[in-house]
Amino acid sequence: MTYNSDKNLEVTTVWSFPERGSWATHSSNFRGNFAPQIPRNIMEMFSQPGDYILDPMVGGGTTAIEAKMLARNILASDINPNFINKVNNVMGFEGAKVYSDLKVADARCLSHIPNQSIDLVITHPPYLNIIKYSDGNIPEDLSNIGSLPKFTAQIRLVAKELYRVLKGDKFCAVLIGDTRKGRHYVPLAFNVMLAFLKEDFILKEDIVKVQHNCKMTNRWGWKAKRDKFYLIMHEHLFVFRKPRADENISRLKQSTKNIYQQ
Ligand SMILES: C[S@@+](CC[C@H](N)C(=O)[O-])C[C@H]1O[C@@H](n2cnc3c(N)ncnc32)[C@H](O)[C@@H]1O
Repeated sequence: MTYNSDKNLEVTTVWSFPERGSWATHSSNFRGNFAPQIPRNIMEMFSQPGDYILDPMVGGGTTAIEAKMLARNILASDINPNFINKVNNVMGFEGAKVYSDLKVADARCLSHIPNQSIDLVITHPPYLNIIKYSDGNIPEDLSNIGSLPKFTAQIRLVAKELYRVLKGDKFCAVLIGDTRKGRHYVPLAFNVMLAFLKEDFILKEDIVKVQHNCKMTNRWGWKAKRDKFYLIMHEHLFVFRKPRADENISRLKQSTKNIYQQ
């Protein structure tokens, strides 16, 4: 599948990519990666060529590949050194001459990145422990946390660090899904959203991303019918804005009626 750059860009808050992009070195080998159309749309909307893009949980490298294709500089990191090795390999394709910094780092502590130096963040945290990204040998891997309050507290530390490195009036996009426990829906995405709002980000967009080819559908289909629940087939792509230094944050919070930030 090749990419026709001006067409195919999203214009609504519901995104659906039945066919995931397979241009450049993208592949579906990395379990739990997002479709390249996600970082591509976000970069086209919220950045310019030459900007510095950060993905601090880069996994299989989707954001890094798209950044290079769109002539953006990329800072990409992950807590798992195996993934960073693989991302180094997938970045070997012919493309724009960009600055590329691939590192093993904890998204809660990006001490190699100066304050207010990033133009756009695009990231995709683990969905609690639904997919584990290490065998328990990396204690900092957030996919080892099964408890929602503990996970949310750590995501808040990530949000704080992303706020520090992002320039004012720039954007931070976070893809995150929900889960179920017992008979109930666990609103992981809204908890993650709140963590970002509590760190003074302002909500710019809440995009519903339709899920396709979900392996869980086959596994859970019969159970859903028997126990009367719906299969989750969407994720949230939140886009947050960091206010400028001269903006009145408490007024902004009030005008966006952000009752959760009290
Ligand atoms: C959902 S995956 C990202 C997939 C990526 N968007 C892609 O397209 O390949 C989440 C990633 O977060 C990483 N991760 C987990 N805890 C982390 C932490 N504390 N700091 C940095 N990365 C972390 C995992 O190793 C995993 O690669």
